[in-house]
Amino acid sequence: MASVQIAPSILSADFARLGEQVREAEAAGADLIHIDVMDGHFVPQITVGPLVVAALRRVTRLPLHVHLMVENPERHIAAFAEAGAELITVHIETCPHLHRTLEMIREAGAKPAVVLNPATPLILLEEVLDQVALVLVMTVNPGNGGQTLIPQTLGKVRRLREMLKARGLTSCLIEVDGGINGDTIGEAVRAGADVLVMGSAIFGYAGGVTAAIRHYREILKSIGSAPQEQG
Ligand code: DX5
Ligand code: ZN
Repeated sequence: MASVQIAPSILSADFARLGEQVREAEAAGADLIHIDVMDGHFVPQITVGPLVVAALRRVTRLPLHVHLMVENPERHIAAFAEAGAELITVHIETCPHLHRTLEMIREAGAKPAVVLNPATPLILLEEVLDQVALVLVMTVNPGNGGQTLIPQTLGKVRRLREMLKARGLTSCLIEVDGGINGDTIGEAVRAGADVLVMGSAIFGYAGGVTAAIRHYREILKSIGSAPQEQG
């Protein structure tokens, strides 16, 4: 089994100590930082914008992945890329001109990625699969941390894995987001996930962020997935 990456989602972090918490996640061996951007339209909550991405760019060397849960995401791509996002993920449900939007992300200097809600079928990805560095499969409905994983979404992960294999798209990563914790990590990895977004399971872990990341690494090790080589 290939190495699996851990992506702490700052949605569940203590925003008054955000820099500190991200530094702790980096020191504990997180692979990247997942930043949830919500606009109060596509999803009810409002979270953060490019200013926070730029601020985090100054406190960590980890890649910053931006998950845009916003309407008209194309209006914001340049600002997030300039702020230092390495990868920008757009919801397929918000992009009538998905091909163009993914091109915009690439031209802005970030890696293009696409995300599907639980009810959105994989078939909508067929024509753009070779344009993306990563596909995010939502394992809950977007909008909040701390929800329970929807089991059917893991079937989608398995089918996506097959689809990528059949097309020879070996470098495209599969990411899962929502309800990933000690109870679900194993099934998510076995279904074919390469990147695990974890919010409440890391920032809400009783023993703290460092203990949380160590704990999930141990689980990954026990199911046969080594951490990414550093450097
Ligand atoms: C939800 C966000 C997630 C969220 C996951 O809409 O996209 O990134 O932080 O939270 P947990 O890991 O607590 O389910
Ligand atoms: Zn997210």
